[in-house]
Amino acid sequence: MFKKGIQHLLLISALSSGATFALEFDDAASAINYRQETFGHIESQLKLLKRSIKKSDNLTSGDALAIVRNISNESQHLIAAFTPVSYQGKTKADADIWDEWPRFEQLMSDYLGNLRDLESAIQSNHKKQAMNALRSAARSCKSCHISYRDFW
Ligand code: HEC
Repeated sequence: MFKKGIQHLLLISALSSGATFALEFDDAASAINYRQETFGHIESQLKLLKRSIKKSDNLTSGDALAIVRNISNESQHLIAAFTPVSYQGKTKADADIWDEWPRFEQLMSDYLGNLRDLESAIQSNHKKQAMNALRSAARSCKSCHISYRDFW
């Protein structure tokens, strides 16, 4: 059977730096891999961040700011890894994502907004505010998973 190579070229402009670069996935499997690895990495960095915020007296001097910026950077590219054909394969992504794309995009952008709040709380050394923002970010992970990540 003739198999067509599918190429996606996605241009993403990083709002913070104004820089534009391309994320390219040759096929569904590589997009799926990318998002699963990135989500896994973000999850472990969030744990580090929580620890760092808790133990720090001065959030601006510790590694919290570097960690949250890294999480934000990685999170910017996630939406691009949900390429149109990648609802099939070794994925837990629900096919509804592509039927309800505007809502999925909205949840992703809510999550990114929570990360921005978290970064500014850390930057201004508001520990309590940072813990609250961390909880809001964790809630935004869950609200997307409830709708769009399958359990098996
Ligand atoms: C806008 C939707 C959305 C948001 C926000 C979101 N996720 Fe996910 N997440 C998904 C989907 C969809 C998958 C399934 C990806 C797949 O299997 O292709 C997933 C998968 C994962 C996985 C499993 C990776 C694997 O190896 O299978 C982890 C861990 C994860 N997310 C953690 C998080 C954390 C932590 C946050 C918040 C900091 C978060 N996610 C925010 C939609 C989201």
